[in-house]
Amino acid sequence: MKYIYLKETESTNKYAKKLAKDGASEFTVVIADKQTGGYGRMGRSFHSPDTSGLYMSIILRPRISPEETLYITTAAAAAVSQAIEEISGKETGIKWVNDIFIDGKKVCGILTESGYSGNTLDYAILGIGVNIYTPTEGFPDDIRDIAGGIFDRPVDVRDILAKRITERFSDYYKELEAKNFLSYYRKKNIVTGKKIMIIKGENSYNAKALSIDDEFRLIVEDENKRITALDSGEISIRM
Ligand code: BTN
Repeated sequence: MKYIYLKETESTNKYAKKLAKDGASEFTVVIADKQTGGYGRMGRSFHSPDTSGLYMSIILRPRISPEETLYITTAAAAAVSQAIEEISGKETGIKWVNDIFIDGKKVCGILTESGYSGNTLDYAILGIGVNIYTPTEGFPDDIRDIAGGIFDRPVDVRDILAKRITERFSDYYKELEAKNFLSYYRKKNIVTGKKIMIIKGENSYNAKALSIDDEFRLIVEDENKRITALDSGEISIRM
């Protein structure tokens, strides 16, 4: 494990990607106090102000099939959920595929990006953003209703949280194919049994989330009673 600490960077994922392309070893971990252009899934930005969050990217060099990249993301969700519960004593929930919630608010987002050389996976960057506490100036208007912090006042737990997440994740990653985190992941999921909206590219449709299968796919039933297994895409829970 090698930690690189930055005061400020555009995005730790971008920084880690450059290092990975230059040959950096697996489990090089980049952590920044602040990101000026942090980003998430679906091209969204990730609000990353100074000190209130953990912004971390881990370089991986997995030898797995493309389908198994879903294991990395879900192992990370399980590791983050466990680490947050250990340091805060608060109960977390995982919204498929890898958002972590506390009391109905999103406290963590995870973005895994892959780099290929030809058809072979060369590296993966596991990017993790955690809102440790609500920023003093509050969250921006567009995410105020969805985003939350683990704590509601400033606490200095960033480095211990980073260490716990990395250790937990590394245990799962060593035996990724054994999927030792599957039962924890299922237990913590807050989606099954709920009415959801599925967003796939330009399209969206309503469905019911039934279960999570052994490949971490979300099994859903659409309004025509057709059952499918989702291995990517974005969902939102309908109230
Ligand atoms: C999401 O919620 O869609 C994923 C958010 C991922 C944010 C993290 S913060 C550290 C790393 N650097 C980035 O630019 N993104 C990830």
